Amino acid sequence: MRILAIETSCDETAAAVVESPALVRSSAVASQTDLHAEYGGVVPEIASRAHVERIMPIVRRALRDADAAIDTVDAVAVTNRPGLIGALLVGSSAATALAWSLNVPVVGVQHIHAHLYAPLLADHDNPDPPADDNVYPALGLALSGGHSTIYRVDAPTRLTRLGGTIDDAIGEAFDKAAAILGLGYPGGPLIDQRASHGDDRAHDLPVSRLGKDSLDFSFSGLKTALLYAVRGTPTATPDGPAFERSADDLTDEQINDFCASFQRAASAAVILKAERAIAAMQSSGSPPQSILLGGGVAANSRIRRDLDDLANRHGIPLHKPAMRYCIDNAAMIGGLAIRQIELGDTDTLALKASPTAA
Ligand code: KG4
Ligand code: ZN
Repeated sequence: MRILAIETSCDETAAAVVESPALVRSSAVASQTDLHAEYGGVVPEIASRAHVERIMPIVRRALRDADAAIDTVDAVAVTNRPGLIGALLVGSSAATALAWSLNVPVVGVQHIHAHLYAPLLADHDNPDPPADDNVYPALGLALSGGHSTIYRVDAPTRLTRLGGTIDDAIGEAFDKAAAILGLGYPGGPLIDQRASHGDDRAHDLPVSRLGKDSLDFSFSGLKTALLYAVRGTPTATPDGPAFERSADDLTDEQINDFCASFQRAASAAVILKAERAIAAMQSSGSPPQSILLGGGVAANSRIRRDLDDLANRHGIPLHKPAMRYCIDNAAMIGGLAIRQIELGDTDTLALKASPTAA
């Protein structure tokens, strides 16, 4: 079975060719970060417009890279939820039009669930991904710019949400932290890189616990603590809060220390909730056999390392996506679509896009 997959839920326009069971033949991604950088975040209207311009070129590139003719495709898969609605509509319209013209089924895929399938994709660098028997039930950690969600994962398409962020997503917190420090956008990779030169104990930033059993995250307190540490406590003025200092006053070394300290606290929050989720799964009678990690923040070197340590402590494997499958991509959409098709879970041309996860 050969799938053409499309992803346009946020600011990456992506297409891929994936073959059963989970072999990625090509994965083409056109990132829009340059278009959104000057606004410090994704502007939905700009994203939709850029998707319209890029969608067919990226589909053609994915087919060309896979050396696959379009009429050899058995189904068209597309992210149809959750995401920016205008952005999702570009992908789902393209996918349904292609499916109609090729007379093949269209398959709508849930984006966050697909992030947690990314570690199980096969390609030339990773020809033997783990088999289901060695993965499920798994603890799933989806850490991205839009989501920070903990799941109990019983199968690729059977996920139960155990917790999530009550305010900022973890990637959003990295991006805001970078903005506070006067670094560019997107902030995650920049903080990661700077942190490797900094002292992670330079500042003691808070890790939110949210009560003793909570599996939810909160990152807004960490962000505010960083803001006050960098700029001092603000005083109210008629023109809004006035800070004691500006980020421009920081030396490179001070910025590196803030990045390392922020990253330590963000990772500690992930580890704390992952520990609790493992304990919760154990006491519910189905301990996790592995940990599945996915999303743009799964690229973070500190979080990868700390989760490796956690997995070792518990004697269970951590399945991390290859770096190219951390950020939004269509390979993970095609991979999960194959599993849905095997279960008879395909859609009609009336496929709807939805901004929410359900
Ligand atoms: O999964 P993704 O491409 O988009 C969503 O589905 O939201 O994630 C993008 C997010 C951005 O917030 C970006 O700053 C973050 O992933 N990110 C990182 C790293 N690389 C990307 N965050 C921390 N460390 C990184 N190395
Ligand atoms: Zn994503």
